[in-house]
Amino acid sequence: MNDNVLYTRVYEVHKEDFAAAGEASARVKRKLKQIGIDAAIIRKIAIASYEAEINMIIHSYGGTMTINIGESSIVIICADTGPGIPDVELAMKEGYSTAPQNIREMGFGAGMGLSNINRNSDNMSITSSPEGTTIRMEFET
Ligand SMILES: Nc1ncnc2c1ncn2[C@@H]1O[C@H](COP(=O)(O)OP(=O)(O)O)[C@@H](O)[C@H]1O
Ligand SMILES: [Mg+2]
Repeated sequence: MNDNVLYTRVYEVHKEDFAAAGEASARVKRKLKQIGIDAAIIRKIAIASYEAEINMIIHSYGGTMTINIGESSIVIICADTGPGIPDVELAMKEGYSTAPQNIREMGFGAGMGLSNINRNSDNMSITSSPEGTTIRMEFET
């Protein structure tokens, strides 16, 4: 991205905090509506950021979601503190999930999150190690 950041905001996302699941992505969505971003783009950002938020709640030790609004793009960065994704290529596959049974009973763990992020963003990158996973997604506006 080579875009001036006009607005930035960081939201905390906590491990296993299902009560607050979707709050960070809902706040992002509200902000985008407020500044008049195109509804179709908001929808894509809402889907992708929700999936990344839920992944941090379910699969990680917790982390942050940062939104950077630029003149011609919106970048969302989800960064957690571990335990990392051992095989990112495998994790990206539709239907692949390590979610345990109790999580599946809550309606999560279909294994579609990462592929949904990929499909809905104009650019996506994942870096991961045992110290943490960072997912960066970019949307042209
Ligand atoms: N932030 C993360 N930290 C650790 N592992 C993750 C993270 N996000 C995704 N994963 C791994 O990638 C898999 C696939 O993710 P996803 O496509 O969202 O499916 P689901 O969340 O339904 O399992 C997860 O089951 C998990 O093993
Ligand atoms: Mg998921």
